[in-house]
Amino acid sequence: MAGGPLRRLAYRHRWIYDSVTAVSSLPLGGPARLRRLAADWLLAALPPGARVLDLCCGSGEAAAPLLAAGAQVTGLDIAPRALELAGRRHPTLTLVQGLAEDPPLAPASFDGIQLSLALHEFPDQERRQLLRAARRLVSPGGRLALVDLHAAGPLMHLPQQLFCSLFETETATAFLALDLGQELQSCGWRPLRHELLAGGALQRWLAEPLPPP
Ligand SMILES: C[S@@+](CC[C@H](N)C(=O)[O-])C[C@H]1O[C@@H](n2cnc3c(N)ncnc32)[C@H](O)[C@@H]1O
Repeated sequence: MAGGPLRRLAYRHRWIYDSVTAVSSLPLGGPARLRRLAADWLLAALPPGARVLDLCCGSGEAAAPLLAAGAQVTGLDIAPRALELAGRRHPTLTLVQGLAEDPPLAPASFDGIQLSLALHEFPDQERRQLLRAARRLVSPGGRLALVDLHAAGPLMHLPQQLFCSLFETETATAFLALDLGQELQSCGWRPLRHELLAGGALQRWLAEPLPPP
């Protein structure tokens, strides 16, 4: 695993990962609020009981509000250990191991897709593949909710630089320079809502699929 010196340790020792998340989510009100940012917009846009894919679900923290609201949730991740934790945490979560950029799932099989704090981990090409694959997985009228890093304003600039240099890979640094609205459009999504949070250090999007060209 590439990235900053503490990244490998943080992934190996859960308490480090959890502590970093707790500290970095303080401006938002804590990890639970951070993990429900995408779900809140998705749930507000979809009918009750909707079929939702939590892409790059990790150990299931961001799936929790979706499940609690009665959505039928599938979690996909590449990491078996994260999926094992997610399954233990949420027995009703359907688990799929696979690549988010080439998901082993049927077209149009979801009403909504959640992508929480994961897109910055992908190199350019894979990131675009992922967004196009997500477009194929969502049914007409479906929604994508996305939360991720954004180049922070002056107050959060230094903390963000420190965080990225210690815990993130070079893909995160490149992601901070990206115009995500434009990227969504070029990958088949029409942005509907957009918000900056935590001093501009985070961005949240809601998008709908564009008609096929
Ligand atoms: C920072 S975690 C975010 C987890 C969760 N979405 C959340 O909000 O807590 C990023 C996740 O992306 C997963 N991931 C990274 N590359 C992936 C890929 N190519 N395909 C599927 N999952 C991937 C990692 O295994 C990790 O669980």
